[in-house]
Amino acid sequence: MNTLQNKKLLFGITGGIAVYKAAEIIRGLVKMGIDVQVAMTKHAQQFVTPLTFETLSNHPVMSEMFPADEMVATRHIGIPGDADAVLICPATANFIGKMANGIADDLLTTMVMVAGPEKTILCPAMNTEMWDNPVVQKNVALLREYGSKIVDPGHGELACHTIGAGRLASIERILSTARIELLRNNDFSGLNFLITAGPTEEPLDPVRYITNLSSGKMGFALTEAALSRGANVMLITGHTELTPPDDAETIFVRTAAEMERAVLQAYSSAHVVIMSAAVSDYRPADYSPSKLKKEGDSILLTLKRNTDILA
Ligand SMILES: Cc1cc2nc3c(=O)[nH]c(=O)nc-3n(C[C@H](O)[C@H](O)[C@H](O)COP(=O)(O)O)c2cc1C
Repeated sequence: MNTLQNKKLLFGITGGIAVYKAAEIIRGLVKMGIDVQVAMTKHAQQFVTPLTFETLSNHPVMSEMFPADEMVATRHIGIPGDADAVLICPATANFIGKMANGIADDLLTTMVMVAGPEKTILCPAMNTEMWDNPVVQKNVALLREYGSKIVDPGHGELACHTIGAGRLASIERILSTARIELLRNNDFSGLNFLITAGPTEEPLDPVRYITNLSSGKMGFALTEAALSRGANVMLITGHTELTPPDDAETIFVRTAAEMERAVLQAYSSAHVVIMSAAVSDYRPADYSPSKLKKEGDSILLTLKRNTDILA
């Protein structure tokens, strides 16, 4: 079976303010059984010292191309060559520019040159003006074209106290992309998967609903597995705490009726359908458009059968 156990990941850290978030991500990767080796640029070490990453990854952190007191020979070729994937997190505008233009002037850029763009996942993080700079956008587009996976930054409050695009993607999105790319095998390429996940919610009134405890984990894990094998995935999900993988086309629904409509719409173009959602068998027979008032010691709730989507 193809698992993450003992997969090799080269984790590159470049000099942006989001370096501190790399610690949490490396911790998550190591917990999944992935063998993580860290390489840092000199500028990255201005933000957090290698000791943190050495301790979390259980390997020495690589940084010097030509260390005076260490025998490193051709590690700049061996380590990226052996790695199943390379994750650059955070990726500075400078690093993206160097990679897109074939510059290999330090250990990390040289290692990425060896690994090649198709093996590399980049998580850009920078201030909005830098991200919006057409040169940066062009470099990102070029790397995408060469086959690199870009975990696009999110929108929100930045370290420079402004609000805009450029914030490092969420840890969940980065971990999900890393899992998918480490298991990459395109034997399902060209297949359309339709996967349902999570619970449904059946409203009683505008503020109350009946639901169940489905976490959605099964459907989301199946989505990642299908994506890593090259399938196109439409994920139809009820409300969960999970972050859908970037490459899944995700439709969020609430009720069993909404899920049924979404499934029926997508069904004819799907080659594989996996129904892992916990769909409510019943819904309240009557919906009150205003909040139900507290009256009497008990209330009687009449439920009506929902359509069985699988039938
Ligand atoms: C406090 C501070 C924060 C910075 N944050 C970022 C950042 O988030 N993203 C970025 O692209 N550059 C950032 N920079 C600029 C980079 O550190 C600079 O471009 C550096 O040359 C990057 O080197 P490297 O790509 O080799 O690590 C920051 C600089 C400073 C002083």
